Amino acid sequence: MTSLSIADINLSAPELWAAPDAEREAVFQYLRDEHPISFHPEPLIDGMPMGPGYWALTRYDDIMYASRHAELFCSSEGGTNIGDIPAELAAFIGSIINMDDPRHKKLRNLVSSGFTPKALNRILDQVAVRATAVVDAVIDTGQCDFVAEIAAPLPLGVVCDMVGVPPSQEHDVFAASNVILGVGDPEYVQSMEDLMAAFMTLHQMAMEIGEHRLANPTDDITSILMHAEVDGERLSVAEFASFFILLVVAGNETTRTAISHGTWALQNHPDQKALWLTDFDRYAQDAGEKIVRWGTPVVHFRRTATQDAQISGHPIAKGEKVVMWFNSANRDERQFQDPYTFDITRSPNSHFGYGGGGPHFCLGANLARREIRVMFEELFRRLPDLTITAEPTLLQSSFIHGIKRMPCEFTPGG
Ligand code: HEM
Repeated sequence: MTSLSIADINLSAPELWAAPDAEREAVFQYLRDEHPISFHPEPLIDGMPMGPGYWALTRYDDIMYASRHAELFCSSEGGTNIGDIPAELAAFIGSIINMDDPRHKKLRNLVSSGFTPKALNRILDQVAVRATAVVDAVIDTGQCDFVAEIAAPLPLGVVCDMVGVPPSQEHDVFAASNVILGVGDPEYVQSMEDLMAAFMTLHQMAMEIGEHRLANPTDDITSILMHAEVDGERLSVAEFASFFILLVVAGNETTRTAISHGTWALQNHPDQKALWLTDFDRYAQDAGEKIVRWGTPVVHFRRTATQDAQISGHPIAKGEKVVMWFNSANRDERQFQDPYTFDITRSPNSHFGYGGGGPHFCLGANLARREIRVMFEELFRRLPDLTITAEPTLLQSSFIHGIKRMPCEFTPGG
């Protein structure tokens, strides 16, 4: 720890995000202790002008402050990724996550009724049926890739159902999401064209399903969005398509990542798995939350200062960017006792996995919680000896703490 120096730390350096988790954890711990708010250059993106840099927030309380003061730290100026969104991409990815109230709230409200606990109770049976189908598909093989064949299909299928994507196109959503959230990893994204092509695939899909729902409405989210009026006007084509894209991308990759991290963590902490198995229902809700803190699938979001402001006495000038490092907040010793311990009974566990409780708090958190619970219940029951047989291959990304591949074995037939 003592060998680290602020002069040598650049949070945008790709090597940092290709390094093992422990190395990165040490860097963030040093920053929290010695330089909780520090300035960093922006990541270099091929063909794009270099941005002005940003303030990195690494402590829990500071991230909470930025998250909950959207009037001071907004999402719409240049978006919520570290680099400003290029104009040609803005129409595609400028959905509610890159908006501020009141427009953000109005659009979010259009679909939020589909994500309440009551609404989700109605689809719980479908989630369980899908989880069963996921295990049915692999149970006789005795081995598979955990990420692609077990963790991915459940959240992917559920969100596709919610917006009306037919099963035949689920794989296209999976592949495009990998590209959109895989920026930084050369396996998925080598150029801006790759990214644009993935957005175009989903945009085209959104348009086709949207057109169909306009003429033949059902009770899915696409039908709601296609028929909705906000301030007396229909959503524009770009607004509808980008909302659709946000939902399908956010709704599958993150939960897949949480299920994968959870499985790896439980294997490495057999005492915690054994404890959970003593009474599945008693620990299920808590264990899911502990997994999300532990894995922190979404690593950061950015905000932009709307006026001269201060965070813990540190001046942030109007127009400057702040990046909320959720991974660091979730390991902050000032908030979590023994933060590097995986403990399914940890209390309190008020984590940043789904955001900091500001206006952009994860819309799908209740859904993700249910999917995680149902998937683990199914796995414990039907593949009780499932074992990960090699270290996970991690996504190289400062945005998503993704797992790309993770081979597993189990007794064929369960
Ligand atoms: C374990 C799984 C998940 C994690 C870790 C996660 C994490 C997050 C985080 C960190 C944010 C930003 C919060 C903020 O800025 O305050 C977010 C926003 C969002 N998430 Fe999730 N998410 C998950 C699952 C889902 C699912 C299943 C869906 C939908 C089907 C979803 C839809 C959204 C949407 C639409 C937003 C933007 C909300 C807004 O801007 O108002 N997420 N999520």
